Amino acid sequence: MKQDFLWWRDGVVYQIYPRSFMDSNGDGIGDLTGITQKLDYLKNLGVDALWLSPIYPTPDVDFGYDVADYEEIDPKFGSMADFEQLLAASHQRGIRVMLDLVLNHTSDQHAWFQESRKAKDNPYRDWYLWQDAKGGGGLPNNWQSRFGGSGWQWDQATQQYYFHMFYKEQPDLNWRNPKVRQAILDMMNFWLAKGVDGFRLDVFNAFFKSPGLENNPGKLGLAGFDRQQHIYDIDQPEMINLLAEMRELLDSYPERYAVGETFMGTPERAAIYSGSQALHATFDFSFLHNRYSAGAFNRSIHQWENLLSERAWPNYVLNNHDVPRSATRYTRNEADERLKVLAGMMLTLRGTPYLYYGEEIGMRDITLKNRAMVQDPVGKHYWPFYKGRDGCRSPMQWQPDTNGGFTSGTPWLPQHANVLTRNVAAQETQQDALLPLYRSLLRVRKNSSALQGGFYQPLTFDPRRMLAYLRQDSEQTVLVALNFSRRKVKLFLSTSLARTDWQFLYSTHRSECPKIHQRAIQLEPFEVLLLSDSNA
Ligand code: GLC
Ligand code: CA
Repeated sequence: MKQDFLWWRDGVVYQIYPRSFMDSNGDGIGDLTGITQKLDYLKNLGVDALWLSPIYPTPDVDFGYDVADYEEIDPKFGSMADFEQLLAASHQRGIRVMLDLVLNHTSDQHAWFQESRKAKDNPYRDWYLWQDAKGGGGLPNNWQSRFGGSGWQWDQATQQYYFHMFYKEQPDLNWRNPKVRQAILDMMNFWLAKGVDGFRLDVFNAFFKSPGLENNPGKLGLAGFDRQQHIYDIDQPEMINLLAEMRELLDSYPERYAVGETFMGTPERAAIYSGSQALHATFDFSFLHNRYSAGAFNRSIHQWENLLSERAWPNYVLNNHDVPRSATRYTRNEADERLKVLAGMMLTLRGTPYLYYGEEIGMRDITLKNRAMVQDPVGKHYWPFYKGRDGCRSPMQWQPDTNGGFTSGTPWLPQHANVLTRNVAAQETQQDALLPLYRSLLRVRKNSSALQGGFYQPLTFDPRRMLAYLRQDSEQTVLVALNFSRRKVKLFLSTSLARTDWQFLYSTHRSECPKIHQRAIQLEPFEVLLLSDSNA
């Protein structure tokens, strides 16, 4: 273990979509007790922290991203006691727990909104973004909902519009109201005091809107939301102070952490919101859009390294609950070679890797054959042009049976057809499967100070086929070589690197150091190779 090990910097985070991880009571929906039952699996896998997608009471219009009470647990996931048990059992195993905070909006079922919508003079009216109709009943401005249509919803009873960046059942909070700010900070403190280790902040840079409610200018794009420049509805300057205030709260406890999801964020935008007086980290989603190519990943890594430089610790994401899984993006069949190369990359870069449940066994997206199967409202709305996000949210594949060992009842989303062959139990016994590779790499990483905290130094590489870099700290140098291609490739080393007396750390294809011949190492097709200059 690294001497100054800091979980969110040196560790690995595992995202759980609670509905789909493990169902302990047969209702077809994953729950907290289910997660607790699988903690030994997670410990053995080697992850350091869990990020739970929302577990608060919710009418499930957006499956938890519409929160009806920030300080309670949804009964379908369990009770507060179940949560406390999960937290304690995780901590016992040295695993931290992060909650998902959805603070741009609440559910329309939240008590605050229920009050707010009652009357114009209700004390909670100003907790949301209410506006009169313009002129002859027109919309207050041209702002759109990310999920389709105008962002303004008319309320018949009180004769005003309210704004919603997402579904109409997700009214946006008024972050300019100091009472909202205080209530949210108090709520964060409630969870911190309970021992929660950190938060993932959902679409945080959308909290503030321009008070002038100016129309967004247009731009070329497919439709509605994408046809606007989002100048007035996101990324307002007030955000910076709020983040500083949240950071102060986090820093009043030891080793607490927050990572932000930058809405519509380019890496440049995302980088601005991290730092010592802002969030510990923000996500860079570049990897989610890359094609499978050493060059594409190399560009993303360089950009992110350069943008953050000393400002903040990087992190990398290949999968989450909003996008098709990497296995689906990068493979057409059941072959896992490409996924192994990407795992080799994710777990050896300078930055916190975020894994998404099932990534470690190469789960593929399920296919939705008709609209009736769709659960995600965005999918219902845009069917058949966009089928929504159910594909990457299918139940975890634990066992080779029709329900994948996920539930004794009927799962809320079907299991993937490959569950009989692709599952945790099967991969436990297959030496060349993905799961043992994740376990080994996580172990190698945990035992290597350079892989956790060292500098990142790219080596000359072949953009079409190979990525190679050094990770280096005062104790150790690790050489990482990733062959993206189905052909053998040669990695040429500088004289000094060719001379070093390398120790074998890990390979997908061999169990000892390759020969260095004329200053080159020959990599096997899709090989992941890790060498070290010491045993540290
Ligand atoms: C974030 C979440 C997504 C959710 C949206 C609205 O993008 O990741 O799942 O639908 O915010 O809360
Ligand atoms: Ca359940």
